[in-house]
Amino acid sequence: MQSQRILLVDDEPVLLEVCREGLIEKGYAVQTANNGAEALDILEREPFELVISDIRMPRLGGLDLIKEIKHRRLDTSVIVLTGYGTIENAVECLQQGASEYLLKPFDFSRLISKIEKVFEERRLKRYDSEVGGLLHILSLERELSMELDEPGLLKKFLHHVKKTFKPTAMAYFTPRNGGMDPFFTLGSFFKEPGTLRWFEQMAGSVANSAQPRLVDPANGVGSNVTKQLGLVGVSAMAAPLNAFYEKDGVLVVVRDARSENPRTSAFGLSDLQLFTIFAAHAGSAAGYHRSCRRIQRMNVEFITSYVQAVEAKDTYTKGHSERVRDISLQLGQALGLGQAQLDDLGAAALLHDIGKIGIPDEILNKPNALNFHEQKIMRRHPVIARDILAGVKSLHPILPVVYHHHERYDGLGYPDGLSGEAIPYLARILQVADGFEAMTSNRAYQQARDAHEALDILQAGAGKQWDPAIVNAWAQAIENDKSSHVTSKSAAAG
Ligand SMILES: [Fe+2]
Ligand SMILES: [Fe+2]
Repeated sequence: MQSQRILLVDDEPVLLEVCREGLIEKGYAVQTANNGAEALDILEREPFELVISDIRMPRLGGLDLIKEIKHRRLDTSVIVLTGYGTIENAVECLQQGASEYLLKPFDFSRLISKIEKVFEERRLKRYDSEVGGLLHILSLERELSMELDEPGLLKKFLHHVKKTFKPTAMAYFTPRNGGMDPFFTLGSFFKEPGTLRWFEQMAGSVANSAQPRLVDPANGVGSNVTKQLGLVGVSAMAAPLNAFYEKDGVLVVVRDARSENPRTSAFGLSDLQLFTIFAAHAGSAAGYHRSCRRIQRMNVEFITSYVQAVEAKDTYTKGHSERVRDISLQLGQALGLGQAQLDDLGAAALLHDIGKIGIPDEILNKPNALNFHEQKIMRRHPVIARDILAGVKSLHPILPVVYHHHERYDGLGYPDGLSGEAIPYLARILQVADGFEAMTSNRAYQQARDAHEALDILQAGAGKQWDPAIVNAWAQAIENDKSSHVTSKSAAAG
C-alpha cells in the first residue's frame, strides 16, 4: 500500500527534523517546509493528505496557509501546532478548516494519535462520498430504466441532476450552424445575453473535445471573461450528453461558489466525475430506449403478420385480433393506464388467440355450436399460446394476460378458473374488448350485433363474465365518444 503523505511546516529546524524522523519510522512519507509560502509551493506541485503546520512563521503563517489551502480547494487536512500564546489563533485555524490542533511542547505519541484520527476521518469522508456517488448512480439507473419515452427520460434525468448537484441554473446546448444553441435553459442565470453567449462558446469547446469541463473562476479557469461578465463567484460544470431527441449536446449546471454551505458552493473534481457518469448514463439510456423502440416496432410488424397468418385459417375471425387490440387500447386509455401497460396490453391483445394455430381447421370453422369434445379442444388455445410465447423472452410480461384471457369474473372460465381480482388486470380489460369485438362482428354461428346491443350484453354480464368496473369504463367511453372510430368500425364490421 502507498504510504500516506504528510507535509511538515515549521520554522524550527530541530522540531522539523525530530518529527520527520519519527513519522518516517511510523511508515509515513514525509516532506518538510520552513514556512507557509514554501509549503504552498510544494502543495501546488504534489498532493499531500495531511499538512502539520506551526502557526507563527515568517513569510506566511499557519492561519494564512489554511486560508490559501481552502481558497485553492486543495484536498488536504491540516493539524496546527501552537504555543500557549497563540491559542486564540489555533481556534481561528479550526474555524477556517483545520482538523485538529496540538499545544507545544507535545508528546510524540499525542501527535501520532491526532494524525491517526485525521486519517480515519478522511477515510470515512471518502467512503461516504464514494458510496453516496454510487447510490446516486444506482438510483438514476433504476429510474431511467423504468422510463419508456424520451420526454419522460429527460424529465427524470434532469430531476436527478437537480437533486444530486443542487444547481441554481441549468442549460442544454445543441449544435446548430457550426455553433451551439440553447435547447432549453432553466433558471434566470442564462437570461443575460452575454452570459448565454459565453456558455454557448464554452459548450462548443466541450462538444468538440468530448471532454467534460469545470468552470471555476475562483481558480482562474475562464476568469478573464467571467470577470467582464460580472460572473464572479460562479462555478459551473459542463459535460457532453449524447442522444437526447437525436441531438448530441452539452449539459451545463451552475452554482454560486460563494455559498457558505459546502454542499451548494463551488463544484469540485469529484462532482465533475459524478456529473460525467450521469451524463454518459443518460446518453446510453436514451440510445437504448431508441433501439428498444426500433425492436418493438419490428416485433409488432412481425407479430402482426404472424397473427394474420393464423387468422387466415379461420375465415370468420379475420382482423379480430387487430380490432381487439384497438378496442383494448381505447379502453386502457379510458382507464388511465400508463404507456408501458398500454404497450403490454396492445401486444397481448394482438397475440391473445395465437394458440388457435394449434386447433384443427374443422373445429375453428365449424358453422354450428361446438360439442363437448370440440369445446375441450378449443379451450386449449390459451395454453398453446402460452407455450408458443414462452419461447420469446421479451414477451414474458404478457404471458399471464394471454393465458388468462378466457377466465371469467365469477370464476367459471378457463384455463385456471381464476375469479375477480385474481385475474390479471390487463387480462380483464382484454376480456371486455374481446367480448365486445366478438359480438359486433360476423361469426360462423352469429350475425354481428350493433354496438349498443353488445354493450347491453356486456352490462348484463358485468360481475359474472366481466369485471363490472371495466364494463362501466367501456360504457362511459362509448358514451363520451359516440362517433368513436372504434365503435363505428366495429359496428361496420357487422
Ligand atoms: Fe380466445
Ligand atoms: Fe379472441
